[in-house]
Amino acid sequence: MTAVGIDAIEIRSGRLRLDLAETFAPAKNEDPEKYTKGIGIEHSSLPDVYEDIVTMGANAAKALIDRKGLTPDDIGRIDVATESAFDNSKPVSTYIAGCLESVYDGDFHHANKGERKFACLSGTQSIDDAYNWIRAGRNRGRAALVIATDTALYERGDPGEATQGAGAVAMLIDEDPDIVALSTEQGYGSADETDFLKPNQQFPSVDGKRSIQVYLARMREALEDYESVAGDTHPDSFAYFPFHTPYPGMVRKAALLGYRHITRDTDIEEALAGDIGLQPRESDFDSREGYEEAIRAYMDDLKATSRYQAWYDEAIDPTVDVSGQVGNWYTGSVHLARLSALRAAAADGVDLAGQRFLVGSYGSGAQAEIHAETVQEEWRDSIDPIDVDDQLATRYDLSFEEYELIHDVHNHEKEVEVEAFTQPEAEFVFTGWGRMNERR
Ligand code: HMG
Repeated sequence: MTAVGIDAIEIRSGRLRLDLAETFAPAKNEDPEKYTKGIGIEHSSLPDVYEDIVTMGANAAKALIDRKGLTPDDIGRIDVATESAFDNSKPVSTYIAGCLESVYDGDFHHANKGERKFACLSGTQSIDDAYNWIRAGRNRGRAALVIATDTALYERGDPGEATQGAGAVAMLIDEDPDIVALSTEQGYGSADETDFLKPNQQFPSVDGKRSIQVYLARMREALEDYESVAGDTHPDSFAYFPFHTPYPGMVRKAALLGYRHITRDTDIEEALAGDIGLQPRESDFDSREGYEEAIRAYMDDLKATSRYQAWYDEAIDPTVDVSGQVGNWYTGSVHLARLSALRAAAADGVDLAGQRFLVGSYGSGAQAEIHAETVQEEWRDSIDPIDVDDQLATRYDLSFEEYELIHDVHNHEKEVEVEAFTQPEAEFVFTGWGRMNERR
C-alpha cells in the first residue's frame, strides 16, 4: 500500500510578540514564573493590524507552494481548519484560494474547498479527510492543501489570556510523502462537553480547570481506543509523542498520565515497582474515594523517577519547544508540536527515518484522536528550509499598552484604528472588512 501523509509544512506566525515574563506578568501583578514555568509559555504571537486567519493561512500556503514548485493544478483539495472563522457561509479556504489565485497563473476552480470545525482538533480531521480522499483514489494524482489557522484570543482578564497565540500551519498531504506517513489505525475519545465553547461569540467561555480534566479524560479514551486496533503501546516504540499543546504545562500532565498508561504490564512497570513501590491499577484512576490520595502520591513519585524524567526529556520536551515561544495556535498547535520535535532531532543530528511518532490531537467540545506516524527518508531536507527561527526572532515586541490596543483591533465588536507595528514584506495583507476581495 502506498504511503500517504505529510509531504511539506510551512508556518506563518503572527508578527507581534507579547513577552509574558517581562510585559504581561508585571501588568497582571503575577509572578513571571507562573507563566514561564507553570504554564510554560515565554512569548505569545499575535497578529499585526494587517494580519488575520486568511492572510496568515495564505502566506503559509504560498511559501509551501513556492518551495515545492507546485502550480494550482497540482492541488485538488483545499481544507481550512479554524475556530476563528468570521464568515458563517463562505469557507475560509475560498478567501485563501482567492489570495493565491491573485499571484499564480492558473486557478483552483476544480479543487474541492471546505472548512472544518472541531475546536483545536480540526487540523488533524482535515488531514484525515485528505488521507481518505487520496486512499479512495478520488484525487486524480493531485495533493491536498490543509491549512490550520487561528487567532486564539480570550477576553481580557480571563485566565486563558496567558495562553493566547496566533498563527497558521500549512501542510501538503500526498502519496509518497517526504515527512511522515500516517497510520491506518486511529483511536477516538469523544463526548458532549461545555467547558470551552463560543456559541455566537468571538471569545470563548471557559472553565479552565475543568477543561484540563476533559482533555485528560478524552486523551485517555482515545489512547485506549487506538490500542484496541493497533495493539498495546510501549514508550520505546515511539521517538516522540506530539500532543495538542494549549500550553506546555498541559502536556506535562498528559504525558504523565499517558506514561503511566502505556507502561502498565511492561518491563518498565516492573522496574518502577522496584523504584517506587506502589502499583495502582488502571481502575484506580477512576477517582474512586480512598484511592485518590494514593494515586496522587504515586504520580508524584513516578514524575520524580529518573526513568520518567529521561523519557520526558527525550520524547516530550522537544515537542513543546515552539509552543512555549508562540502560545496556543488552536488548530495548528499539534502540528507545531510535530514540527518542534522534527526540528529538535534535526538540530541534534538524529536520523529519524523509519522512527515513529504517537500523535495526540484534541479539541474542546470535546474529542481526542490518537494515531501513529512514520518518519520518511527525506524528512530532513523538508524540515531544514522552514524559517521558524527567523519568523519568531523578527516579531515586534509589544508593550502592555500596545498589546491592549492590538487585542481591541482584533476584537470584532470594537472599531479601533491603529497604525501597524511592522511593515508587510511582499505578503498577503488584510485590507478591510468591506473589501474582502482586495487581499494582496
Ligand atoms: P490559572 O488558573 O490562572 O493558573 O490558569 P494556575 O493558578 O492553575 O497556574 C497554572 C500553573 O502554574 C499551575 O501548575 C501552577 O501550580 C503553576 P499545575 O499545578 O497546573 O501544574 N504556578 C507556578 N509555577 C511556578 N511559579 C509560580 C507559579 N504560580 C502558579 N509562581 C488555566 C490556568 C489553564 C486555567 C488557564 O490558562 C486557562 O483557562 N486556559 C485556557 C483553557 C485551556 O488552555 N485549557 C487546556 C485544556 S483544553 C484545550 O486544550 C483546548 C483548547 O486549546 C481550545 C480548543 O480545543 O479549541 C484550550
